[in-house]
Amino acid sequence: IYLRGIKCVQIPTSYLAAVDSSTGGKTAVDLPAGKNLAGAFHMPSLVICDTDCFKTLSKETFEDGVAESIKHGLIADADFFRFMLENDITENIEEVVRRNVEIKTSFVLGDEKDTGKRQMLNFGHTIGHAAEKVSNFALTHGHAVAIGMALVLRAQEKLGIGEAGMTEKLLAALKKYDLPSECPYSAEQLMSAALQDKKRTGDKINLVCLEKPGKAFLKPMNMEELEDIIRLGLE
Ligand code: GLY
Repeated sequence: IYLRGIKCVQIPTSYLAAVDSSTGGKTAVDLPAGKNLAGAFHMPSLVICDTDCFKTLSKETFEDGVAESIKHGLIADADFFRFMLENDITENIEEVVRRNVEIKTSFVLGDEKDTGKRQMLNFGHTIGHAAEKVSNFALTHGHAVAIGMALVLRAQEKLGIGEAGMTEKLLAALKKYDLPSECPYSAEQLMSAALQDKKRTGDKINLVCLEKPGKAFLKPMNMEELEDIIRLGLE
């Protein structure tokens, strides 16, 4: 926003920023009225990532990035998802960050303004953002996304959408990294927050679903259908 945009270099010091926000050019900041409400699409000239910084993070702050890494595996690379399930992220940190950035870039290139395939990066985020908001941000971003992914996959399996057994695989990964999978809020609370989702267009929202681990798709739906998904996922 300053001087209608200046060159910037992103130097992520959290694992979450390294695997997500430092790549892709979204620059929003929070306003009292809500999260990420003021900002632009503005690509950094350079991203410098020193993985030693992550050694200073609290367990919870590190886990926030792990949820986004699990998301990247689930939407784009089943082998990467399995790798994180069978190995430890911290012991393979450089390779894991590199793969996260490659996956994120593959969704951003060709859709920098977030009108198409980039939206698949929102897997777990429609419900996750709602849960974050209901908690008044006591629930941190990655923890909320973990809950959002689990809720959507539970609902999908009940509706017979996508490959069977995906919820079990996700829950195993969340458990391994101490991330939550149960939503502490009601469908009414989540819906009232989802109605304020800035990605909503009129009555329509694109919910990200999984066809199978490694392959996501956008399911356009109205807010009533979203409420049904929320209720099913909470049951
Ligand atoms: N964090 C989602 C995106 O950059 O589009």
